[in-house]
Amino acid sequence: MILGNIRTNYEKWYEGETYYWGTEPAEFCDELIRIRPFPQAGKVLDIGCGEGKDAVYMAKQGYSVTAFDLTENGIRKTKKLAGKYGVNIDAYVDDINTFQAAGPFDIVYSTGTVQYLFEENKEDFFRKIAAITNTHGIVYFNVFVEKPFLELPPDWDIEEKMWKAGELFTYFADWKVHRIDEIIFEDHSGGVPHYHCMDTIICEKM
Ligand SMILES: C[S@@+](CC[C@H](N)C(=O)[O-])C[C@H]1O[C@@H](n2cnc3c(N)ncnc32)[C@H](O)[C@@H]1O
Repeated sequence: MILGNIRTNYEKWYEGETYYWGTEPAEFCDELIRIRPFPQAGKVLDIGCGEGKDAVYMAKQGYSVTAFDLTENGIRKTKKLAGKYGVNIDAYVDDINTFQAAGPFDIVYSTGTVQYLFEENKEDFFRKIAAITNTHGIVYFNVFVEKPFLELPPDWDIEEKMWKAGELFTYFADWKVHRIDEIIFEDHSGGVPHYHCMDTIICEKM
């Protein structure tokens, strides 16, 4: 399967010099830092880093950051943002379905991206995540979850896949859970207010 639409859409959104997702880091970054502060933890992997706001924030805290995204514009802007703050990031174009990353890592995270993982690659993907995460390493993942009472978001793409409630957690049954939750939140992306349901996990490899 070729990720034609997704790549083209995001490449276009990331084309300009303004940052489509802004440059403020996501809140979960500080949660991960609290659990595994630098220098207790060293290496971080950002899967689907977009334009790099979270990857750059982690690098600014001292971690050695590896980050990849499907888009060339995303990686170009990640490097540009890193340059602005005088930090170095190992950033490259790769596909979540087949990615390569030289671990082991102390912190691995992905936000807003795992819905692009093909069904047939899920097992392999999470086996790979376990293999490249250090013992006592921390991972953060979120996925959009299907609910019969919620309509599909208006800007949902055919290449994005909804997950079943709780499905994400089954891949980490043997890990120590730091946080698991499922929330419903309002979103105005695409100009039409709508709701998402999202499952999130933060857990530690034992
Ligand atoms: C909603 S954005 C989130 C970006 C970033 N994590 C953030 O929070 O700013 C989803 C990202 O997934 C990337 N993406 C989509 N399909 C991908 C794939 N197959 N492999 C890697 N990245 C992918 C897109 O290019 C986009 O940057």
